[in-house]
Amino acid sequence: MLFKQQAWLRQKLLVLGSLAVGSLLYLVARVGSLDRLQPICPIEGRLGGARSQAEFPLRALQFKRGLLHEFRKGNASKDQVRLHDLVQQLPKAIIIGVRKGGTRALLEMLNLHPAVVKASQEIHFFDNDANYGKGIEWYRKKMPFSYPQQITIEKSPAYFITEEVPERIYKMNSSIKLLIIVREPTTRAISDYTQVLEGKERKNKTYYKFEKLAIDPNTCEVNTKYKAVRTSIYTKHLERWLKYFPIEQFHVVDGDRLITEPLPELQLVEKFLNLPPRISQYNLYFNATRGFYCLRFNIIFNKCLAGSKGRIHPEVDPSVITKLRKFFHPFNQKFYQITGRTLNWP
Ligand code: A3P
Repeated sequence: MLFKQQAWLRQKLLVLGSLAVGSLLYLVARVGSLDRLQPICPIEGRLGGARSQAEFPLRALQFKRGLLHEFRKGNASKDQVRLHDLVQQLPKAIIIGVRKGGTRALLEMLNLHPAVVKASQEIHFFDNDANYGKGIEWYRKKMPFSYPQQITIEKSPAYFITEEVPERIYKMNSSIKLLIIVREPTTRAISDYTQVLEGKERKNKTYYKFEKLAIDPNTCEVNTKYKAVRTSIYTKHLERWLKYFPIEQFHVVDGDRLITEPLPELQLVEKFLNLPPRISQYNLYFNATRGFYCLRFNIIFNKCLAGSKGRIHPEVDPSVITKLRKFFHPFNQKFYQITGRTLNWP
């Protein structure tokens, strides 16, 4: 009798055990498939990728970034490229400018998104006649390896101010997304000057003070021939672009806010690019020594931008600053009106 009861108990335990193991296995499989079924990257429709999104969850893309990094360094063999189904894709979005607006910070921060792959170097394909003459395949070959579901982004700030560029980009892709990052025009002009000044100093060359360049000594008016001033007249440049692209294809990033409060600016860009929100506060931390936000990819890898980003500007005569701000004011108003983004510059 006792023996029979023990056998019955053993059998019951066995059934319960199998049930528990079965449920566990089911749960593991379910979680895996749920991950794959997550809405991944709505931009896919426009990206025209051959595979279904379900095959490439963002988490998997995140995981594979390390691999891409290796390949970017030029360590990928042809077999590896084939094996991992890697491609070099033309950009789906370009940061066209503005020089000293925070273009590098924007590119690096967007690269935190698992569906974004950056072209590290400025390619200068559309603004440089010699490069443009090499053809679109040359340009594509300059792009980093990526998975078909990712989007490639490049930045070349000279594009914004170069006459021929809008038409050339339009010919490549008339529905491309265009990002413009702007800063308060006078600050941007001084930042531009500071960069050129540093180059001159490095070569032991003498250079004029900002005030002398920005203000015409004969008329005492703002010198519109000075490139740093002209670049800051954003509306003039944008108007040329609007001959080719509708305003809906542009997104204006507030470069001043990207410095102090990067996350909301990046979230607006994610929306514009139709990417699911994946950049979080975890990815951005303020570095008091640098005085800027730096990037955190994971617990191991983080980085700040190079020292050439965030230079100390020379002091500029306040009356010159006032004059410049007054000069830029009407152009700024027009820029707000055209873009629908008011930036409250003085
Ligand atoms: P300054 O050097 O005048 O401070 P670009 O990359 O287009 O050349 O822009 C450079 C500007 O990016 C810098 O201008 C800096 O202010 C700004 N910037 C924005 N976010 C930054 C960040 N997280 N780290 C360093 N610089 C940043």
